[in-house]
Formats: sequence, structure tokens, C-alpha cells
Amino acid sequence: MRFLLVSALCLMVMPVVAQEAPSVFNKCLACHAIGEDAVNKVGPRLNGVVGRPLGSLDDYNYSQAMLAARDSGVEWNRQTLTRFLKLPKHFLPGTSMAFAGMTDRAEIDTLIDYLASFDANGTHITP
Ligand code: HEC
Repeated sequence: MRFLLVSALCLMVMPVVAQEAPSVFNKCLACHAIGEDAVNKVGPRLNGVVGRPLGSLDDYNYSQAMLAARDSGVEWNRQTLTRFLKLPKHFLPGTSMAFAGMTDRAEIDTLIDYLASFDANGTHITP
């Protein structure tokens, strides 16, 4: 009985939970927005970032380093994002993203899954 009750509660809660930002996204919030009303802040809005070339929003003023990487055809995917988030200045010397980096692989994976769950318009999708 208790099991059934818990399962039923989970089913009711899950769709809401799925759209909530993981707490690790708090590390990014000072500089980045994501979602339907997202605008560029200190950093570019992150809608649809997974799968697009680096530095490819035309209404954000990227560093020369980011633009050079874009021009050489580098894309954001799980591998490049992982390397960037671990040590931004190591992956992209000259980047203007003043973020020390993070070491916890599980946190990085959680973040990438979250980023991948928004399309370019900021609509929540299931990747
Ligand atoms: C102190 C501000 C700051 C913080 C904190 C920060 N960023 Fe950034 N981020 C930036 C800036 C500035 C840029 C643009 C970098 C450039 O042009 O070199 C950027 C660029 C990016 C890009 C590339 C976007 C694109 O359009 O190519 C991604 C992805 C990104 N940040 C993810 C994150 C994530 C995820 C976090 C949280 C773990 C985070 N950032 C934390 C400032 C920040």
C-alpha cells in the first residue's frame, strides 16, 4: 500500500521536477539564462547550445578565442562541453568566461543533460 502511494506521488511530481533546474545550475545562473524568456547576461543565453557551433549567437559579443573556434568548425557536444566546463581557460585559452571550472563528472553530466533539454527557442524538450 505504501509502495503504491509513493509510486502514485512520484508520477504526479515527476513532470514538474523534470523542468526544474538542477541545483548545480546555480553555478551558472549569475551569468547565464536558459528557457523561454532567456536573455543574454554576462554570458550568452544557453538555449539550444548542445549541437550548435561554439560562439554562434549573432546577438552576443563573444571573445576572439570563441569566434576563432567557431570558425574552425568546433561544436558543442558532450565531449567539448565536458572539457570546457572542467577547465574553461584550458579548453579555450582567451575565453571571457570567468569560471574556474568544476571537477565532479556527475555534476557536469547533469548540467549537460539539462542544457540539452532546451531547444533553440528555449522550449523544454526531451532530448
Ligand atoms: C562569471 C560568469 C560566468 C559563469 C559563472 C559561467 N559562465 Fe558560461 N560564459 C560566460 C561568458 C562571458 C561566456 C562567453 C565566453 C567567450 O566568448 O569566450 C560564456 C560562454 C559559455 C558557453 C558557450 C556558449 C556559446 O554560445 O557558445 C557555454 C556552453 C557556457 N558558458 C556554459 C556555462 C555553464 C554550464 C556554467 C555553469 C557551470 C557557466 N557557463 C558559468 C560567463 C560565465
